[in-house]
Amino acid sequence: MKNITCIEDLHQVARRKVPRAFYDYAEAGSYTESTLRANRADIEAIKLRQRVMIDVDNRDTSTTIVGQKFSVPLVLSPIGLLGMQRGDGEILACRAAHEAGIQFTLSTMSICSIEDVAAAVEKPFWFQAYVIRDRGFMKELILRAAAAKCSALVLTVDLQILGQRHNDIKNGMTVPPEIRLKNVIDIATKPAWALSVLRGKRKTFGNLAGHVKGMENVNSLSQWTAQQFDPTLNWKDIEWVRSLFPGKLILKGIMDVEDARIAAKSGADALVVSNHGGRQLDGAASSISMLPKIADAVGDDIEVLFDGGVRTGMDVERAIALGARGCFIGRSYVWGLGAYGQAGVCKAVDIMQKELSVSMALTGVSSIPEIGPNVLVDPPFTQKSPRKKSAKPKKRS
Ligand SMILES: Cc1cc2nc3c(=O)[nH]c(=O)nc-3n(C[C@H](O)[C@H](O)[C@H](O)COP(=O)(O)O)c2cc1C
Repeated sequence: MKNITCIEDLHQVARRKVPRAFYDYAEAGSYTESTLRANRADIEAIKLRQRVMIDVDNRDTSTTIVGQKFSVPLVLSPIGLLGMQRGDGEILACRAAHEAGIQFTLSTMSICSIEDVAAAVEKPFWFQAYVIRDRGFMKELILRAAAAKCSALVLTVDLQILGQRHNDIKNGMTVPPEIRLKNVIDIATKPAWALSVLRGKRKTFGNLAGHVKGMENVNSLSQWTAQQFDPTLNWKDIEWVRSLFPGKLILKGIMDVEDARIAAKSGADALVVSNHGGRQLDGAASSISMLPKIADAVGDDIEVLFDGGVRTGMDVERAIALGARGCFIGRSYVWGLGAYGQAGVCKAVDIMQKELSVSMALTGVSSIPEIGPNVLVDPPFTQKSPRKKSAKPKKRS
């Protein structure tokens, strides 16, 4: 991997190694992809402040997130069908996260099940739940995560209905992959992928198979999602979820100051400022542009995490400067997995950690708590909300 020096290198290798339908699935945003593009463009526009003549010899990228120790403020995001980027992808990514001293979040829509991952790794991991219509089954899933000793439940609240991704329809995105001539030819040119998926534990949604009514009769992911995801989702459901899960509760998909204030009082331990990587509401603001407003509105009442477009360690510093305690990363590690399996995910985290360390040095800070608006030239997006609660910078221990 000596020629891999940045996340974009992993992206290019994944493009060659992963079949088109699954590569496109990870790549895509919803509809015109304007929010997907805004996530990156707005992060890149944030200028870091170059500082000199400050002793930055001893730097430390470690932190705590929901009371747990992290070597670097990164969490691997929940990614549906991760095991289709590489066979047993969920297990490989979880092992890589643990090796790197960070956390992995297993998606409800994973290929390996909660129990598959729990049996294959040594330490607790996080589980992501969607609110689905069949509350009995949802309760069962949360209890399964608790029984597997998952140390946090990430409840995704921004998928009450599915935003359309054009390529998933055009590629006939199904699980297991649909046998179309075009797919067969494509897969034939990716033998390493085919072997890893053939040898993998499962070929369909591990957490759902055999449990969810209708699963066998639908042939497309979006059809299934449309049937199962629950548009009645509301704040009362959070209390119910809280009562079921003894570990930390993290609400993922908050993009509005008003919603953030409610989330802060909901009993959750953290929220994630996220627009689902530009895959849901096309036309939503970039997640980075909402981060400082939300962080400012909730103050110390709830931990604020962030995702959307994080591709470098410099991006991590930018997000922390604007009020995030840590960043979830999605595509950045998905590409590492598709390119080189577990070693590729380790590489992605290592690249970002080293970049963060260099960025900290060149902005004159040595530890995560020192990062604030002080590392930015003209901190952007900080227009105060009308009913601002606290102007104090967030405390970090
Ligand atoms: C291929 C793919 C699948 C995803 N699946 C899920 C999922 O199952 N559950 C979830 O909460 N978010 C899911 N997301 C959203 C990610 O968890 C995360 O919010 C997003 O990827 C962050 O943006 P980034 O990819 O630019 O880092 C998915 C994102 C991608 C790219």
